[in-house]
Amino acid sequence: ENRPMPAEEGLDHSLAFLKEGYLYITNRTLGFQSDVFETRLLGERTICMRGEEAARLFYDEDKFIRFGAAPKRVIKTLFGENGVQTLDGEAHRHRKAMFMSLMSDDAMQRIRELTRKYWEIAAKNFETRKEVEIYEEAKELLCRVACEWAGVPLEPEEVREKTGWLGALFESPASIGITYMKGRNARTKAESWVSGLIEDVRANRFTAPEHSALAVISFHRDLNGQLLDLKTAAVEMLNIIRPIVAVSIYIAFTALAVIQQPEEREKLAGSDEVRLGHFIQEVRRFYPFFPVTAARVAEDFVWKGYRFEQGTLTMLDLYGTNHHPDLWDKPEKFMPDRFHHWRGSPFRFIPQGGGDHDTGHRCAGEWLTLEIMKESLDFLANRMSYDVPQQDLSYSFSDIPSLPHSNIVIQNVRSV
Ligand code: HEM
Repeated sequence: ENRPMPAEEGLDHSLAFLKEGYLYITNRTLGFQSDVFETRLLGERTICMRGEEAARLFYDEDKFIRFGAAPKRVIKTLFGENGVQTLDGEAHRHRKAMFMSLMSDDAMQRIRELTRKYWEIAAKNFETRKEVEIYEEAKELLCRVACEWAGVPLEPEEVREKTGWLGALFESPASIGITYMKGRNARTKAESWVSGLIEDVRANRFTAPEHSALAVISFHRDLNGQLLDLKTAAVEMLNIIRPIVAVSIYIAFTALAVIQQPEEREKLAGSDEVRLGHFIQEVRRFYPFFPVTAARVAEDFVWKGYRFEQGTLTMLDLYGTNHHPDLWDKPEKFMPDRFHHWRGSPFRFIPQGGGDHDTGHRCAGEWLTLEIMKESLDFLANRMSYDVPQQDLSYSFSDIPSLPHSNIVIQNVRSV
């Protein structure tokens, strides 16, 4: 039996989305008492959904495709053109396999070691300074980690500039004015930097380390047996190093949790891998980062009596699903121990997307993220002592991406 989908009236609600940010969809699901509703965003009819069942539906490849789903401003800053995020079907699977081939156990061990190495260097450096901002320091540290892991040469004097470009790519997509223009500008510069490297690798002027992302992407062949065009190869290279730097946002929130949850911090003494793991899982569940992901209806279908019309833009609420009251006990409480008995589910806990890494669009870098976060948490909780001065530790639900307002300032750092 068909029934009308709950619908928000009015010509356009993009401003409300910008204002309410991470809570825009949650607020309306509460009002409608429905995990699915229809509205108008960026001038078009848009279906919004949250929850486990909605996520399972969203990741059904027969029902949703990515072609034409990402907003232009996101393509122009965060994603780049013709990257893996925009592909469907066989072309997507083939490109995604290239990314997943970089995620071996050895590669995870290597990112862990690199993260430790650069935290050790950073911690020594912090000792010589009066105070440091964790977010800014984490970005630079991870820029070094990202480049070394990916086989990208980076001279010490380049770190600041490259970090600035990569940071601007993920700080800008939901902004207007100067910040957005900074993101556009950074994409041009970053693509030209990385294209130059790929050209050098292809022409044998530079040898990328074997199995590195730089080598694999430079020589990857598409389904027609062709090398990726230079621009697309650069976009995919940035799809590796940009999000590694973006883990700095999670590191700032990890630091916030360490500061605000002394009892949870205490449980981390001894650096037990399982405890570190539960804590960072809860950081990924609890704090806002990637708000939604978007797709379009592949063909007309009916779900729970609601008609989904071909081509309709559809957004899955990642933040709202991770806080859904039917799925989580006390969702607004920070409780790492909830992961102790957690059996796992591809559609409930979806900070980096849901479904399957190989066949769907779920984040290719989820395991990299976990390794970087566990190592960083160990430094923040156990391997440095520091004071936390008065500062604004609040964060906004309308800034996308959100960050603690102070960027987390610490003083009198000592390695322990
Ligand atoms: C896709 C989040 C880190 C590479 C995604 C998606 C989300 C996400 C939400 C889209 C899922 C979807 O549309 O279904 C995050 C967050 C990160 C992070 C919050 C923390 C910083 C990383 C890292 C890498 C990475 C470290 C490095 C390789 C990718 C790629 C895709 C992706 C290549 C596209 C996958 C596809 O379209 O098949 N990520 N990610 N991400 N992520 Fe991440």
